[in-house]
Amino acid sequence: MCGIIGITGQSTVTERLVDGLKRLEYRGYDSSGIAVINGTGLKRARAEGKIKALERTLDMTPLDGHIGIAHTRWATHGVPNETNAHPHFYGRVGVVHNGIIENFLELRNSLPGHKFQTETDTEVVAHLIEDSLNRGLSPKDAFEDTLKKLKGAYAFGVIIDGVDDQIFCARAGSPLAIGIGEDEMYLGSDAMALAQLTNKLIYLEEGDWAIISPKDAQIFDREGASVTREETIITGGLAMAEKGNYRHFMLKEIYEQPETVGRTLANYVDEFNLTANLPEGLDFSKFDRIIIIACGTAYYSGVVAKYWFEQLANIAVDVDIASEFRYREPVISENSLFIAVSQSGETADTLAALRYCQSKGVTTAALVNVMTSTMAREADIALPINAGPEIGVASTKAFTSQLTALASIALSAMKSRKNISRDAEIRLANALIKTPRKIKEALELDPQIEQIAFELSKSRSAFYLGRGMQVPIAYEGALKLKEISYIHAEGYAAGELKHGPIALIEDGTPVIVLAPYDNLFEKTISNLQEVASRGARIILITDEIGAKSTGSMASEMIVVPSTDSFVAPIITTIAIQLLAYHTAVHLGTDVDQPRNLAKSVTVE
Ligand code: M6R
Repeated sequence: MCGIIGITGQSTVTERLVDGLKRLEYRGYDSSGIAVINGTGLKRARAEGKIKALERTLDMTPLDGHIGIAHTRWATHGVPNETNAHPHFYGRVGVVHNGIIENFLELRNSLPGHKFQTETDTEVVAHLIEDSLNRGLSPKDAFEDTLKKLKGAYAFGVIIDGVDDQIFCARAGSPLAIGIGEDEMYLGSDAMALAQLTNKLIYLEEGDWAIISPKDAQIFDREGASVTREETIITGGLAMAEKGNYRHFMLKEIYEQPETVGRTLANYVDEFNLTANLPEGLDFSKFDRIIIIACGTAYYSGVVAKYWFEQLANIAVDVDIASEFRYREPVISENSLFIAVSQSGETADTLAALRYCQSKGVTTAALVNVMTSTMAREADIALPINAGPEIGVASTKAFTSQLTALASIALSAMKSRKNISRDAEIRLANALIKTPRKIKEALELDPQIEQIAFELSKSRSAFYLGRGMQVPIAYEGALKLKEISYIHAEGYAAGELKHGPIALIEDGTPVIVLAPYDNLFEKTISNLQEVASRGARIILITDEIGAKSTGSMASEMIVVPSTDSFVAPIITTIAIQLLAYHTAVHLGTDVDQPRNLAKSVTVE
């Protein structure tokens, strides 16, 4: 994770670097720092915590220059304090780094006599470059020589006192782009970081390294050969999102969902002809299996999609967590379609899984929100979800857009595999088209859910139960609650609880049961009875028909609008999002930037 940015130019850089860091804060907010070279050598300012803390430090001790690098950190090696904050210095060298240097201990031991100031894996890079300079290597050779010694993943920005207009940079396993300006050059972890500076980017390829100066970018490949990489013009969509009148980005993003799901649908469903558009490049008749790989919330969207693709299109689906899939040596047939699901399009494990499948000759698709991301660029087919920038670390609108896109693609797969009657297609397309309105109605439950959340916020743990397509929504409900309220929660298949976890149910344990009225409703309600009779406090999320059939078994009932069961997971999601949000607000946590997390997980 971590975000990096650099500027080499004609005018002062500090304010612009700090602005870039704010755009990168989604990649981590444990600490931040900047380093510049000015007439008095290499200087830096660093602070523990969020970028605001760095701004306060800079207010007290201003710092500026025409060349600088900056970093926002998600800690991997070393506690998140100021000492471990980047940039790291040694001698003439300043380094910012995103990734993990796996052989850093071995490298430290290869430098006898060097004193290390930090617990980080990164600091050794500054030492290695300084060591090479001391051995008489040119800055370019010292940088290249150092890169050859590193194992792991990295994107670097390096400045060297005495080389006052060049930034050395490199990427392997972590993304990095060079930005081209008017007599200025930039580097950044992504297009977002550089959006205020330029829309003209060069994405470095795996193993590339470069030297940028105000008028020039020299790029080299892993072998040191000079290479040219294509320039990309980024168009639109990178404005910094504003919170508007909402208290948190998360709440704003929850409320945006009627619109964002509508935008997703516009891309995949033809509302006049009531049919799903087959995304360009996808021919489902030639695949005999789909492999969906993702992490976190995106993974749960894949688990729901398994039900859709298998039930509707009669095609087998494997869904796996990316960090498990990539090291499992999975058996993959060439007739598989691989779908990576990722809001950011940068998640390291998901990206590695995509590359693994590409190396096996499988057709790859990336369902992403950020269309300038590495996954969107590297997959054979990029499938947008069009949810717009998602700032809250807890994913909300991206999840419902992932679900909407996957449901629509499953419908198109069903059609192309001729597994559907026109009547069924019309019914399902209609259900999808009505989803934005149903979400809007579900949002009206907000005041009631806020009250229920007040009670929930007093609990130490909670269970979420569901059956069928509601199981992954139960997982997602538990994840949302955990990540922003810090209350321990578990999502379970309702029928599985009695195989062990039911032992944890005590008087008053909150159990959130997801049971819209579908073919599994009665079975879920039986499971509800099992926990209710053991003292659980039931919060039932059902729909209008379900509410009429349940009587008074639940302590609280959240009644979402009735829908076709095909799209019910999208609607029950709204309730679990609001429940987690209000619980966290009652507890006073940092809802948009919860502790220990980062929006984009770019280390494995
Ligand atoms: O950017 P991605 O969708 O690949 O991110 C995957 C997960 O890191 C992400 O969904 C995470 O679980 C969220 N914090 C959940 O709210």
